[in-house]
Amino acid sequence: MHFTYIVAPIFALLGAVSGNSLAGRAAQLTQVSNFGDNPSGTAMYIYVPTKLAANPPIIVAIHYCSGTAQAYYQGSPYAKLADQKGFIVIYPSSPHSGTCWDVSSQKSLKHNGGGDSNAIANMVTYTLKKYNADPKRVFVTGSSSGAMMTNVMSATYPELFAAATAYSGVPAGCFVSSSGAVDAWNSTCAQGNVDQSAAYWTSVVKNMHPGYSGARPRFQIYHGSVDTTLRPNNYRESVKEWTGVFGFDANKPQSVKNNFPSNGYTTNIWGVDSANPLGKVQGIFAQNVGHSVPMNGAQDMAWFGL
Ligand SMILES: *[C@@H]1O[C@H](CO)[C@@H](O)[C@H](O)[C@H]1NC(C)=O
Repeated sequence: MHFTYIVAPIFALLGAVSGNSLAGRAAQLTQVSNFGDNPSGTAMYIYVPTKLAANPPIIVAIHYCSGTAQAYYQGSPYAKLADQKGFIVIYPSSPHSGTCWDVSSQKSLKHNGGGDSNAIANMVTYTLKKYNADPKRVFVTGSSSGAMMTNVMSATYPELFAAATAYSGVPAGCFVSSSGAVDAWNSTCAQGNVDQSAAYWTSVVKNMHPGYSGARPRFQIYHGSVDTTLRPNNYRESVKEWTGVFGFDANKPQSVKNNFPSNGYTTNIWGVDSANPLGKVQGIFAQNVGHSVPMNGAQDMAWFGL
């Protein structure tokens, strides 16, 4: 049931064509072993550029199924951008067979539940302290299973992140396992057969960190119209989830940009104000794009304000 074998070559190709050459890069991807509590056995890798900014921002970049920290380091634009801008990149690596992320068990779907999300949160806390990083500029992004985890991190640890970008995922809580299984596939969600209200999704998110009433990350959703792995209905459910959390009407974006950021893409924006010139939620639907939407480093930098 896993789709990893389709996805992996696409990402390998992306890495090859997008100029993420490791040649000439002074710093290296490094494993960190003692970052804190880690009952799920998730591995932490970090990229600290040679020219580190003072009080540096952090991006957590989460790989797809069949991927690894090393593969996402090579196939995504973030390390190269870190060399230019001085931020730190954390690349978590999944401990599960097939290397999807656990977005199905209560361990991972709860704040401090002891699952993968807890481990990734501990990586952030460790990095903030060790590098005197900026707690107001911590961001999370990922592709496919990593995008599912981006949704889950934003719901379980809203206090840690200023903004998130999910490339072709599903809403937090959509992959929940009825039997509580760790790292379970959920065909109902993947096939686009979950159709819930914004109120439902809002309560799902709020129940992942009960009692929390502080700020939540601005959330950006990319999805392709011909995604057959995680059907495009997951775009609509994700939009309902995050607009619902912020109290916007999913059906009434504040503005719509056609053919942005690429030809055939439509960007819907909710919640623009003086503090959030790009809005609090963006839904970017890509016509004729399958699984997964390619990462867009320049747009990610804009969304993160880096
Ligand atoms: C799949 O997820 C839905 C919620 O999105 C849930 O209702 C259903 O029980 C899950 N399926 C399994 C087999 O766990």
